[in-house]
Amino acid sequence: MELFNVYPLYDVTPVSANGSTIIDENGKKYLDLYGGHAVISIGHGHPHYVHRLKSQVDKIGFYSNAVKNPLQNELAQKLGKLSGCENYKLFLCNSGAEANENALKLASFHTGKSKVVAFKNGFHGRTSAAVASTDNEKINAPLNKQQKVTILPLNDLAAFKAAIIKEDVCAVIIEAIQGVGGLDEPTSAFFQQIAALCKLYNVVLIADEVQCGFGRSGKFFGFQHHDVIPDIISIAKGMGNGFPVGGILIHDKIKASFGLLGTTFGGNHLACAASLAVLEVLERENLIENAIETGVYFQQRASEIPQIKSTKGKGLMLGLVFDFDVAPLRKRLIYNQNIFTGSAKDKNVLRILPALSITKTAIDNFFNALKTELL
Ligand SMILES: Cc1ncc(COP(=O)(O)O)c(C=O)c1O
Repeated sequence: MELFNVYPLYDVTPVSANGSTIIDENGKKYLDLYGGHAVISIGHGHPHYVHRLKSQVDKIGFYSNAVKNPLQNELAQKLGKLSGCENYKLFLCNSGAEANENALKLASFHTGKSKVVAFKNGFHGRTSAAVASTDNEKINAPLNKQQKVTILPLNDLAAFKAAIIKEDVCAVIIEAIQGVGGLDEPTSAFFQQIAALCKLYNVVLIADEVQCGFGRSGKFFGFQHHDVIPDIISIAKGMGNGFPVGGILIHDKIKASFGLLGTTFGGNHLACAASLAVLEVLERENLIENAIETGVYFQQRASEIPQIKSTKGKGLMLGLVFDFDVAPLRKRLIYNQNIFTGSAKDKNVLRILPALSITKTAIDNFFNALKTELL
């Protein structure tokens, strides 16, 4: 059998990795400034992470959600404490799309309504309501297009008000920093005003923190830059440092009942161990502080390069804006300089999403390589 051919592949075969270094089958080393779509948060192969996963699988790797799993409670406690979101409850699942799917479904259950408001260039996953809320016609099948979703320009309060006063909206879903879309952000005023309107019209505000959460923006959650309180927060990517795990944090005002949500694999022992290891390393090694410091350093270095027209984003969720399509540059960075970077919907944006443990030396190496490729 062959693979269903949906991914255009770079000709690189990683076989091992540590920290921000990936090693291919020929022993060639690459600098990873992309973390496999913003997933690697504490660095590849972190010893504490490896130890926690290995020792967990030696004991028990999985059992269903029909029995007690104290690791889930431990994860909820630790996540609440580190994120400052202690008045939320945690529901665990397996991916970002699944997190948003559960968030949207819960919003619909909670309000009894069915329309979703999402934003231009937003990305929320590839399943059912999550993909319908994603601003990309090409990945929405006729089945998905049956969902009732209005996609509005970001930061357009008048358009938002006009959509929400119809009183048929169950949820608004928003990224504090857009990932796939190209690093645009809501203003604090816009975020705060939509939060207030959501309250007024009984609409659930969903912060999609799948990419910008878990410290990447320099705060635990991206929305925390804006002084707002979402009703549901969706998480995945950096949460497991490569182990597939996702979840939603649900504000105390939304009540649980048996059977409301459910999953076979979500919150299994290995997933909890992976996510606990991530939180422990984030805390012990002050990685959020490192994300702030190295993020500022990155932006400073970027400002020295005349071909970079501007930088977007916060912490270590950054976009370098050029005035040309960066696809050939990305290719040269991989094949000539052995550096992984990312693309965005905006073709002129080079996305930078390193592990939160990245060093200034690695950043210097990147800029030396970039200068060579821009000559
Ligand atoms: C903001 C955001 N939400 C949701 C998703 C979907 O996550 P997953 O690919 O784990 O389903 C992504 C993936 O890129 C994302 O960036």
